[in-house]
This record gives sequence, structure tokens and C-alpha cells, in this order.
Amino acid sequence: MQQGRAVFLALALIGAAAAGLVTGYLIWGWPQDWYRADLAKLPQGAESDLIRYGAKLVIETPRSIGKDAVDPQLRFAGNDLACTSCHLDAGLKPFAAPFISTFATFPMMADDQVLTLTERINGCMRRSMNGKDLPAGSHELQALIAYVKFVGEGSPEGVRVAGMGLKRLPEPELAADATRGTEVYVKLCANCHKADGQGERRPAPGIGYSIPPLWGDQSFNAGAGMAKAAYAASYIHANMPFGIDYRSPVLTVQQAWDVAAYMTAQPRPPAPPEAASSLR
Ligand code: HEC
Ligand code: HEC
Repeated sequence: MQQGRAVFLALALIGAAAAGLVTGYLIWGWPQDWYRADLAKLPQGAESDLIRYGAKLVIETPRSIGKDAVDPQLRFAGNDLACTSCHLDAGLKPFAAPFISTFATFPMMADDQVLTLTERINGCMRRSMNGKDLPAGSHELQALIAYVKFVGEGSPEGVRVAGMGLKRLPEPELAADATRGTEVYVKLCANCHKADGQGERRPAPGIGYSIPPLWGDQSFNAGAGMAKAAYAASYIHANMPFGIDYRSPVLTVQQAWDVAAYMTAQPRPPAPPEAASSLR
């Protein structure tokens, strides 16, 4: 059921992108590298301060708006993951769900509904961050939007440039198997994410993780995109073990599906009620 929904959703998103398809192909061939926003080049000023605060929220999420945030008023997330735990390089890494075309392609149609950028960010707050919405109009929400807009500056309106989202993985030869996945996990993941999947916390006074947890109470919940095998497999193939990218995968396609089956079979917090009827 959930899987069917995800497939439907993927199709709906492809449909929504169809208008920009021809342009998209042209852009694919362009030498332009969209992935190079540089905070250091920002001038002085209030707008730049807001963008820098947005970057801080993406990178130092647990300290700023996490479960253990310094300011108790701002504990919106229910865990200590960072946005950049998944949106690698703070949203600048191709095929790690980057933010380059995000501002230029929201609001978008998803599941027959208009999805705004605010709703999309709060979707990650509720599911990936297992928490609650950032209030409309809050400084935090405005800062995140300003940052997302900044990293996409100069990118084409209405087009998802190459490397957006996750890299679609071919179907595995054999049905994904969590038992085979355990072997992959032990060999290629457990040295960092640990045998119990809980990763490694930063030593105090640090807040959050040097290696994020993949399951359990402190991880993303069952409504998150990363809790779906197809998303997890694509993400892992293009990005893990940490340090690789989509051009130099270490796992075979089969291993990525198997380890994703293993990871998504582990316990985690339940999906929030609304996840059943809306986007991730
Ligand atoms: C556990 C992993 C995870 C964490 C943590 C996470 N996200 Fe996401 N996010 C995803 C996935 C997966 C997608 C969907 C990618 C796709 O549809 O191709 C996504 C999509 C998005 C998008 C839409 C991007 C686009 O244009 O396709 C935005 C914006 C976003 N997340 C913001 C955030 C913010 C802000 C935070 C931190 C408060 C956050 N996310 C934390 C996994 C995560
Ligand atoms: C060298 C250490 C290392 C290895 C090995 C490694 N990872 Fe990771 N992984 C990381 C780090 C670090 C992050 C977060 C990146 C950041 O914060 O910038 C991460 C993030 C993730 C995430 C998204 C964040 C989350 O909490 O879910 C997933 C999923 C993941 N890794 C799965 C795997 C799998 C599966 C393997 C084995 C195939 C693996 N990793 C191997 C270090 C590693």
C-alpha cells in the first residue's frame, strides 16, 4: 500500500516535471556546475544574516532546533539528526536530495495536491526529524527558505537540474533480502554506524552526531522518505559508505537494495498520523 503510494507519487512528480523535460535535457549537457553556492561570498546585511542563519540550521540542526537545542523554546525536532545528515554538504551534493532547484520548482504538484516549500520543509520536520512543524512566519522557517533560495540562485526557473533528488536505482536482480543485507551492513556500514545502528554522538559539549543513527527511537520515523526501501537504496548506492559519490559507487545495485531492506526492517518511531495521506 505504502509502496504503491510511493510509486504513484514518483510518477506524479515525473508528470509535474514533464513540462521542463526538454529544457532539462539541454541543461544536463551544459558545462554549468550549479552546485557551488558559497556563503563566504555573501555581502554584509540583514538578508545575508538570514541566509547564514539558515545554513546554520541545516548544519547545526540539533543545537539550533533539535530535541536537545540550546534554547528550549526552539526544540521543534524530536531527534538530534541534522538536515545535512541526509542533505549532504548542506544540500549541495548531487543525488543526496540537494536544494539547488528546490526554490525554483516549489510549489509543485504532488499526489494531486499543491505542495508549498513550507509544507515540504515541515514534511521533513515531522518525519525525518520526527518532530513538529516550524511555525509559519517564524525566523527559523524564513531562514531555511532564504538559504534554499540562496543555494539555487541563478539556476533555471521551473527546472530540476541534473543531480536533483535521488538517483533512481535499477530493480535488483534478486528480490531485496534483509538477511543478505545484514552481511553488507556488517562489512561496510557498522564500522561507522555501529552494530546497533545508533552511530556516534559528538562528545560534550557537542550536540548531535558525528555519525547519525539509522534506526531506533533517535532516528527518522516510519513516515520518512528514508524509511522506504526504494529511497534508502538509491540514497545509499550514491552516497554510502560516506565519502563516495554517484560516479564511484562501492555497493553493487543488489547490495544497496539488500542493505536498504535490512535498514528499513529495523524498529523506528511510528509515522505521524497525517503521513498516511500526504507526502512523506
Ligand atoms: C533522514 C533523512 C532526512 C533528514 C534528516 C532531512 N531530510 Fe529533507 N528530504 C529527505 C528526502 C529523502 C527527501 C526527498 C528527496 C526526493 O524526493 O527525491 C527530502 C526532501 C526535502 C526537501 C525537498 C527538496 C527538493 O527540491 O526535492 C526539502 C526542502 C527538505 N527535504 C528540507 C529538509 C530540512 C530543512 C531538513 C532539516 C530540518 C531536512 N530536510 C531533514 C530526507 C531527509
Ligand atoms: C565512514 C563512515 C561511514 C560509513 C562506512 C557509512 N556511513 Fe552512512 N553516514 C555517515 C555519516 C558521517 C553520515 C552523515 C553525513 C553528515 O552528517 O554530513 C551518514 C549518513 C547516512 C544516512 C542518512 C542519515 C541517517 O541518519 O539515516 C544513511 C541512510 C546511511 N548513512 C546509511 C549507510 C549505510 C547503509 C552504510 C553502509 C553501506 C553506510 N551508511 C556507511 C558515515 C558513514
